[in-house]
Amino acid sequence: MENTEDARAFQTNAKVFSGGMDKVQIIDYYNMWNDYEKDLQPGRYNGPAYAAEAIDRSFPSNKDTVLILDVAAGTGLVGEELVKRGFKEIHALDPSESMLMKAKKKNVYKKLLCEFVNPEPSPTIENDTYHCVVCSGGFGSGHIPAGALREMIRITKPGGMIVVVMREEYLNIPEYSDSLEPLMKQLQNEGLWMCIERSVVHKYFCDKHGVIFRYRVLHRHL
Ligand SMILES: C[S@@+](CC[C@H](N)C(=O)[O-])C[C@H]1O[C@@H](n2cnc3c(N)ncnc32)[C@H](O)[C@@H]1O
Repeated sequence: MENTEDARAFQTNAKVFSGGMDKVQIIDYYNMWNDYEKDLQPGRYNGPAYAAEAIDRSFPSNKDTVLILDVAAGTGLVGEELVKRGFKEIHALDPSESMLMKAKKKNVYKKLLCEFVNPEPSPTIENDTYHCVVCSGGFGSGHIPAGALREMIRITKPGGMIVVVMREEYLNIPEYSDSLEPLMKQLQNEGLWMCIERSVVHKYFCDKHGVIFRYRVLHRHL
């Protein structure tokens, strides 16, 4: 770790991804994490920029008409990166009310949904709504369940994109090792989506590698 501030931010983040908390405790933790953006500032946490760059690669033109849902939007770091790149139609979803309130103040989201993403369909989002669903930093212990990938497919238009950016080593936590990447492959075998990109990137968070997944949605099976 380069300095003590990096080490402190790393530990603060590690607590919420440690595996020792249930859903309610995790949301309470985020609700109380007032220094989130100081701790997860660009340079130290580069997930939002990686996510926005991946969307930029997917939608090189007519960016202002691409309807995007930022899942696990938190304080809106991904939204800010998207706006810098010319995207305008962005919605945010996050179960932490206080994180979402910070996101709202940035005026980068046209709609805010305070809810979890689950394997079960959300009653507030219609089938085939979004051109793109993105998630940076939402997958990890106690966070988004692997089965929620089906829900992300349901709400994406056929032909649309799903972008997931996460810490690479979290692919191997007990919650995901048999169910996250294996499910991604199974969903491809079922003909629901197709992998466009799987790339490992440096310095996703501090010195930890990240992985970027980009999938094109083909069909939606109810
Ligand atoms: C590390 S933060 C990432 C926030 C933002 N995407 C970013 O890159 O800064 C993780 C976020 O996931 C949210 N979260 C946790 N469980 C979730 C779930 N099941 N569905 C949606 N969001 C969830 C938390 O409330 C928190 O805001």
